[in-house]
Amino acid sequence: MIVLGIETSCDETAAAIVNNKREILSNIILSQLEEHAVFGGVVPEIAARAHLLHIEDVIKAAMYDANIQFSQLDAIAATCGPGLIGGVMVGMMAGKAIAASQKKPFLAINHLEGHALTPRLTENISFPYLLLLISGGHTQILVVEGVGKYQRWGTTLDDAAGECFDKSAKLLGLGFPGGPHLEKTANACLNTKEALSRFPLPVPLKGRDNCDFSFSGLKTSVRNHVEKLGRYSLTQKDKADLAYAFQITMSEILADRCSKAIQRFKSVYGNKTEIPTLVIAGGVSANLTIREGLENLTKQHNVQLSTAPLGLCTDNAAMIAWAGLERLNLGRNSDSLAFKALPRWPLDPNAQASHRQKNNG
Ligand code: KG4
Ligand code: ZN
Repeated sequence: MIVLGIETSCDETAAAIVNNKREILSNIILSQLEEHAVFGGVVPEIAARAHLLHIEDVIKAAMYDANIQFSQLDAIAATCGPGLIGGVMVGMMAGKAIAASQKKPFLAINHLEGHALTPRLTENISFPYLLLLISGGHTQILVVEGVGKYQRWGTTLDDAAGECFDKSAKLLGLGFPGGPHLEKTANACLNTKEALSRFPLPVPLKGRDNCDFSFSGLKTSVRNHVEKLGRYSLTQKDKADLAYAFQITMSEILADRCSKAIQRFKSVYGNKTEIPTLVIAGGVSANLTIREGLENLTKQHNVQLSTAPLGLCTDNAAMIAWAGLERLNLGRNSDSLAFKALPRWPLDPNAQASHRQKNNG
């Protein structure tokens, strides 16, 4: 089976072809970084227009790279939410148009489900597993029990982890998107011990007996340090030291919350999995310090850590095509061409089925 995936929920226009042998035949990602960089963040209206401008060429390029015709596709899978609604509609309508003209099934995919199922595309990991989803819009701990079967054990009470990276990077006068710039700046820190003593930062909810997150206190603390030094008088050393302290603290927060989730996972699923797996997904999981922190944690708990290759951590359409294939493999029906785009579409136990039913009319 061969599926075309389309992803336009944020600032990447992406199309990919994947087959059920877990082969990625093509994977085109067109980033809109330059369009949004001048504004220091993603502007929804600009994103939607840019998707509209490029979607056709991106899909054509994916078909060309995979060397296949529309008639050879078994289905078209498009992100139908959650995300910036104008952009979601562009990719969704393109997918529906191809499905209608080719008389092929249309699959409405939840963007978060794409991230959640990626480790099965890259490593064929079996259910159930624990997932830490850390992106620009979401920070959640989920149990992935099966396709469409997700339990949310923790979520952020305020900002998402990526948002906190982006806002802190902005306070430090770094470029957009903040995560990769902040990581690069932190790598320039020469005396890490000194950096940590210069810039003490809080670890919100540390030790709390649940899997929730909070990042606003961390962001405020970065702002206070920056204001004390003077926003426009920060030296390269100030920036590198503060970026380093921030990144280590972020890694500590994520490891602390995940350690609670691992303990809970072991007590609930203890005898169902030999060695439990913690999967990390979403753009922030590209951060090497965070990966290292979670590697140490999982070693301590005798848990396997699964990280997707960097290119499949951030938004892409291969994960959307794969989520479609997972559904096809289970013999699930196609969705209606009347399916409505969803700005919000949580991965909670009942939300999957009920949103799908409601939106299929
Ligand atoms: O999953 P993603 O590509 O898009 C969604 O939000 O769905 O994640 C984007 C987020 C941004 O906040 C970006 O700053 C962050 O991932 N990010 C990083 C790194 N690369 C991307 N954060 C920290 N370190 C990185 N290397
Ligand atoms: Zn994403």
